[in-house]
Amino acid sequence: MNMNENDVNGGPEIAQYHQHEIVIIGGGLAGLRAAYEAATSGRDVVVVTKVHPLRSHSVAAQGGINAALGNAIGAEDDRWESHAFDTVKGSDYLADQDAVEVLTKEAPQAVIDMEWMGTVFSRTEEGKIAQRPFGGAGFPRTCYAADRTGHNLLHTLYEQVVGKGVRFLEEYFVTSLVTEGGRCIGCIAMNTADGSFHGISAQAVLLATGGYGRIFARSTNALINNGDGAALAYKAGLPLEDMEFVQFHPTTLYGTSILITEGARGEGGLLFNNKGERFMKDYAPKAMELAPRDIVARAIQQEIDHGRGFENEYVHLDLTHLGAEKINERLPGIRQITMDFAGIDPIKEPIPIQPGQHYSMGGVACSSAGRTPMDGLYAAGEASCVSVHGANRLGGNSLLEAVVYGKIVGRTMADDVSQLPEGGMENPGDGKDTSDGNIGEQYSLKAVQETLEQERSRIQNLLNKEGTFRIHEVRDSLQRTMFDHFGVFRDEQTMVLGLERYNELKDQLQKVSLNYKGREFNQSLIHLLELEYMVMIAETVTHGAFLRKESRGSHFRPDYPTRDDENFLFHSMAYLKNGITEIEYAPVTLGKFPVKERVY
Ligand code: FUM
Repeated sequence: MNMNENDVNGGPEIAQYHQHEIVIIGGGLAGLRAAYEAATSGRDVVVVTKVHPLRSHSVAAQGGINAALGNAIGAEDDRWESHAFDTVKGSDYLADQDAVEVLTKEAPQAVIDMEWMGTVFSRTEEGKIAQRPFGGAGFPRTCYAADRTGHNLLHTLYEQVVGKGVRFLEEYFVTSLVTEGGRCIGCIAMNTADGSFHGISAQAVLLATGGYGRIFARSTNALINNGDGAALAYKAGLPLEDMEFVQFHPTTLYGTSILITEGARGEGGLLFNNKGERFMKDYAPKAMELAPRDIVARAIQQEIDHGRGFENEYVHLDLTHLGAEKINERLPGIRQITMDFAGIDPIKEPIPIQPGQHYSMGGVACSSAGRTPMDGLYAAGEASCVSVHGANRLGGNSLLEAVVYGKIVGRTMADDVSQLPEGGMENPGDGKDTSDGNIGEQYSLKAVQETLEQERSRIQNLLNKEGTFRIHEVRDSLQRTMFDHFGVFRDEQTMVLGLERYNELKDQLQKVSLNYKGREFNQSLIHLLELEYMVMIAETVTHGAFLRKESRGSHFRPDYPTRDDENFLFHSMAYLKNGITEIEYAPVTLGKFPVKERVY
């Protein structure tokens, strides 16, 4: 399909209008999988992404992707039901069991789809896709490509999507959705290169922008993971689900927070405190190092807090007994990272590790078809909350969610678009109809133009504003506040102090000014727009955590140390009302796995 662009102004204030059937915001694994599916159905798709797609955070995923293929020795009896059970138990029973069923049933085909597209997985001796043990899993179920699984999957999909003729608007930052009559009809984006504004009309808009990990200090996430998609939906009045559930990965490299894959423990890596003890025996005597992440992260933090860490900061992940051959074959990226960033060769010495923020379980509430409560708006991947991870995600289920639900939402959008009436597009404003005639009449360009003008003036005001604070001051304090007050352990007293600090920061955000006021490559402006999103999202996390007076999965309250199913076996739903977060609760979809105590 043609991309219709129509300059309505000249010079630096140029505005361009594009029309497509489907616009996908985010070029990571979920977005590209959706783009592939929708384009395969013959739909006209554009991907709008703030970085080149191959710089999306999916590229950093290391350890693997889960599917009950039963390829590993001893895993012959693995079935989707076991995968579903492990996922539901891992979620501390907060996951919706119907969505988990879809995820786990579709998993084997989703992995095979990727293999057929060209992903080079590691292999068993018989030539089957190799699978390794991961935390909280009853069988070795995690398919991998050494320790660069996300890299392999993302590169494969990008090639395929380019081959399908999907258009890309790269390094475009989305500042707003466009809604009309309760329907999402497009978005407004700013081209980072020249500061021009773009109004993109579409019949279906997908949010696939990843998580909000960077609202925390000490995160494994790319600097781009600021909750953009969640914030866009939230500003437009949609609920964000289970935002208080934030995953802390047990093993991040001390000093840099770079991920040290769970695959390292899957391959036999052991955790030791400063007394030389395998302390996991005191926390998860059966599963030991391969307990789910929430349990291992808390155990490590507790060892450190009680003086059994090294330098009061970290414990040791020891791989030395695995030998050079296994490390070089299965964990080459980990070895390289550890040598480059810590000067340590894990073949010879243990790796200093500590917990760090890793994943956002919360996100834009959507159905297992990917529909949000707003017509025309969809969500997938880490930006969404379907919910398949509940209170704690199992390692290896994130890449899986991206490809399973990316594929599903791609189909949903293609089907929904095919059912909309055909018609001409309203004149973009220069007296000429440039439409190629396949956009329904209800997608009024007038609303896109109006929103574009509002965004243009809002952003000009940001550029003009004088103030006493700098972006990094507010961002660094926000990240520190979130990590220190809403981190691995959160009690009321700590959170009250955190909320006070948060309110000060919210106020400081209004007083941030920019030094550089130009339009070309104004990275400070992008960082300020991101900071606005981060502050907005942080409030949903703080309020959700404060009000949830129980401990469940990743949300641990020393003042309420047990799970309270009677009062809190509910999803939290954060709404933006009069500029403030309000929390409501919604039921969890239970199913064949009865709610039980979680023991490992
Ligand atoms: O540890 C890891 O390799 C991370 C995997 C995941 O988050 O799924």
